[in-house]
Amino acid sequence: MDRAAALVEAIASQGGPRLPAVEWHATIGSTSDRLKQLARAGAAEWTTVLAERQTSGRGREGRRWQSPPGGLYLSVLLRPSGERAALLPLAAGVAVAEAVDSFGVVCQLKWPNDVLASGRKLAGILAEASSGSAGVEWVVLGIGVNLALDPASLSAELRDGVTSLAAQGGREAGPDAVAAAALARLAVWYDALREAPSRVAAAWRERAIPWWGRLVELRSGTAVLRGRLAAVDDEGALVIELPGGERRRLVSGEVSRLRPAGS
Ligand code: BTN
Repeated sequence: MDRAAALVEAIASQGGPRLPAVEWHATIGSTSDRLKQLARAGAAEWTTVLAERQTSGRGREGRRWQSPPGGLYLSVLLRPSGERAALLPLAAGVAVAEAVDSFGVVCQLKWPNDVLASGRKLAGILAEASSGSAGVEWVVLGIGVNLALDPASLSAELRDGVTSLAAQGGREAGPDAVAAAALARLAVWYDALREAPSRVAAAWRERAIPWWGRLVELRSGTAVLRGRLAAVDDEGALVIELPGGERRRLVSGEVSRLRPAGS
């Protein structure tokens, strides 16, 4: 059985969907860019592209995602109905966190879907949607998981903030096994988006790093907002309370903790 067929079987055996098409690349620019081409050509839901290494991996907020060998680089195509699309990035975060847990590493989520272990980033998710007059047509969900990255292969500014399954003492796992677990869990939470969406937000909050009431900064493009982290609501928005007491709901951006001077 080739690698793609083995992945299809592994996911199906965990109760997940039967992937209609799988591409495995030794090297690619970005699995998400490749999958967008397939989406525009009408590819079916759950079509999946994976790579051993990416040369132009992309992260959220326009950042680069360094993608040397030793990571999982996966993109999966979903075609959610409108109301399912808003919470999908959070559902994906829960799914990836559960998959990582199943290899022996307990992890937490930072809004919207950074997967952290010991306060360092272990996995990231990039959800990119295309909409038409009838609403969301497709979402390409790009998932990057650090499995056994050699820290020397990362740039100096990333090395301290990043961790991997191996560095956290997780069970030894290759990209195939982690991909199968992540997609099987994603299918569960994707169904929950239709049947009980508030369960998705609740599951997300259970895994959140406990920054509630703490001073945080939200950056989105050039905009910066500072205030206390009040909530992540049932629609998946981050709620920040500004110094004057006004509450703002944010649907995208990068959140970081601000520590009072001297602490
Ligand atoms: C983040 O910034 O946290 C999101 C990172 C998402 C990286 C993945 S790796 C597979 C897919 N292909 C890409 O170019 N990016 C995503």
